[in-house]
Amino acid sequence: MLKERNPVKELLQSDAYGTQAHVKGWVQTKREGKNVAFIALNDGSTIHHLQIVADVTRFGEETLKQITTGACIAVTGELVPSQGAGQKVELLAKQIEIYGTADPEKYPLQAKRHSMEFLRDIAHLRPRSRTFGAVFRIRHALAFAIHKYFNDNGFYYLHTPIITGSDAEGAGEMFRVTTLDPRKPPLTETGEVDYKQDFFGKATNLTVSGQLEGELGALALGKIYTFGPTFRAENSNTARHLAEFWMVEPEMAFYDLEDNMDLAEDFMKYLIRYALDHCPDELQFLETRLLEEEKNKKQEERSPMPLIEKLRFVVDNQFERLDYTQAVDILMKSKPAQKGQFVYPVSWGTDLQSEHERYLVEKHFKKPVILVNYPMHIKSFYMKQNDDGKTVRAMDVLFPGIGEIIGGSQREENYDKLYARVKALNIPEESLWWYLETRQYGTAPHSGFGLGFERLTLFVTGMTNIRDVIPFPRTPQNAEF
Ligand code: 4AD
Ligand code: MG
Repeated sequence: MLKERNPVKELLQSDAYGTQAHVKGWVQTKREGKNVAFIALNDGSTIHHLQIVADVTRFGEETLKQITTGACIAVTGELVPSQGAGQKVELLAKQIEIYGTADPEKYPLQAKRHSMEFLRDIAHLRPRSRTFGAVFRIRHALAFAIHKYFNDNGFYYLHTPIITGSDAEGAGEMFRVTTLDPRKPPLTETGEVDYKQDFFGKATNLTVSGQLEGELGALALGKIYTFGPTFRAENSNTARHLAEFWMVEPEMAFYDLEDNMDLAEDFMKYLIRYALDHCPDELQFLETRLLEEEKNKKQEERSPMPLIEKLRFVVDNQFERLDYTQAVDILMKSKPAQKGQFVYPVSWGTDLQSEHERYLVEKHFKKPVILVNYPMHIKSFYMKQNDDGKTVRAMDVLFPGIGEIIGGSQREENYDKLYARVKALNIPEESLWWYLETRQYGTAPHSGFGLGFERLTLFVTGMTNIRDVIPFPRTPQNAEF
């Protein structure tokens, strides 16, 4: 047998009839004809299957019986024009090697529609389903596009730490990292855990964001980005929150809020266009799947546009940009506010909830929205203060079906103003001295933002739960696999 295998993706586009090909993959289905068996084989290179035609007398009933859904096989054969509809070519099997069988009585991933909840329980096998194969290929394409975009635009990829000694970002509850014995940790004289005796000689956590270190990079290299795992221990069991997620954080010296918005919009459009250009089959499959699924839903719960049209719409239209204050005005005058339909009431100064963000995007503007200049007290200490003394140069990008997909800001570069915020918020100065020093040595205006990578993937794939766009989700009470 040949050692090198031919990707199914390439064979399906080939018309080199009569040549020999060698494929390896997992059986999706097998259909028995009179004298032949038809095996649909998938090798992960494409959403589509290669049809293998296996002669019953040649291979024998015994062998063919072992080739069932989920089995892994290698096939050498001749590429021939397909007799059946639905594909151009098929493989006439000459040799079949069975790597691994999958007992049809037990194999959980049968060739039928399973619920998303069930598939989460078999996350070790779900990448083999067509839906998850499509999602993870798109996820890969988006990750690649992120690196390409930044590399092509003069940004440096900076690796910021995952274990951090500062909990100053205030972005959420953190996971403690420790090697102390949980049953009898060393105590200080006042009876608290003595983290001086811990591995790092201080209390440490998993990072909630690479931003603070990212700023240090931007104030030297000019334009940087991070792209790594971040962790939040909030107990929010929603379809849009993970305890472990990947964040993309560009940080740019000499950018003001306007530049930051321009970059965010251009970046998002580039990524979506990249997926449209590189994953057309996956998107088509997911669009059809979504339309199927939504058939059973009420009209108002259905997506207003099919997936691909929605993606094109975002690429082709300008994002709406407005102040938080104007947004609150719109929300307070809105029908759901008048009729008391919002769960959380809105007024100037309240943090916007997902229901408000989605109203603005899906009902009012019907396109992505960038909200800026939020009240200072609901945003992080590092955001640049406006002259009004009430608001900061914050920026949130809101997307249909998602709500907040990007959070960012221009940063406060003035030492005295920044220091005043640190004091006012009782942030322990000793964990942030290095950050504050950058405002004393060669400070510069700068800006940045964070894109939640899974929220982006959620939007592009049209999936409805964030647990279904990351291979192995981490959520409260769940760290299986
Ligand atoms: O708005 P956030 O908290 O911003 C920051 O962390 C800043 N340091 C970013 C920056 O300016 N460099 O988070 C940024 C984005 C959110 O808009 C959202 O898309 C995503 O990260 N995100 C989550 N995604 C999944 N699960 C969670 N628990 C998330 N929390 C935030
Ligand atoms: Mg945010």
